[in-house]
Amino acid sequence: MKIICAKDYDDMSRKAANVISAQVILKSDSVLGLATGSSPIGTYKQLIEWYNKGDLDFSGCTTFNLDEYRGLQPDHDQSYHYFMHENFFNHVNIPAERINLPRGAEMDAEKECARYDAAIEAAGGVDLQLLGMGLNGHIGFNEPEDCFPKGTHCVDLTTSTIEANKRFFASADDVPRQAYTMGVQTIMRARRILLVVNGENKADIVREAFFGPITPKVPASILQLHNDVTIVADEAALSKCKDLL
Ligand code: F6R
Repeated sequence: MKIICAKDYDDMSRKAANVISAQVILKSDSVLGLATGSSPIGTYKQLIEWYNKGDLDFSGCTTFNLDEYRGLQPDHDQSYHYFMHENFFNHVNIPAERINLPRGAEMDAEKECARYDAAIEAAGGVDLQLLGMGLNGHIGFNEPEDCFPKGTHCVDLTTSTIEANKRFFASADDVPRQAYTMGVQTIMRARRILLVVNGENKADIVREAFFGPITPKVPASILQLHNDVTIVADEAALSKCKDLL
């Protein structure tokens, strides 16, 4: 596990974008695993900037996002489909037919999860998976559990996630109750993993996840077992690991 210390959010975003750029330059037909949330937005912005300068070409790339709310149409402004198009896809040249997210509008969970895993497999697997991490150590929608979930599956959102997300919806009742997410096994199968994490509020979980015991109670801790993980964290997120670095 390689930990890269960044000064702040912008520096983290630049460093992470550098890793993704190198991947795309060295392998133009890369399969990229992508994430939503606030952590990678700056990374996407930086990639868009370099794309606009002519330094990057995504025309050979395929993407698979980690997760999507079950029950939302793709054009819903809180869907991850919408988020990804607003923050990245609308600004670069990834061919639309090679952009993949779980289909939230497909209510047959078993069918959709099986379809998604098969599509990842058919694309040859993920070359580089970008991740953020939740305050409780979740990755994708893989929340703390008694065992690590495997492939893409449907999860019930926790009350705290529904509470945290209700500000984006008309009311708490409008927040989807379920989501489709790549499982921990799907994530661990990626050939390389890049996790971005910033802010003092993540300092405790960074220490726990990357220097504590490997346990499904802290889903991101499994990444310690992957042989090619790069964590790009800002100083604030690493502030409780000073004695370990
Ligand atoms: C996003 C995702 C989540 C986020 C995590 C951190 O697709 O799957 O696991 O990465 O909740 O979110 P932020 O970056 O908003 O702190």
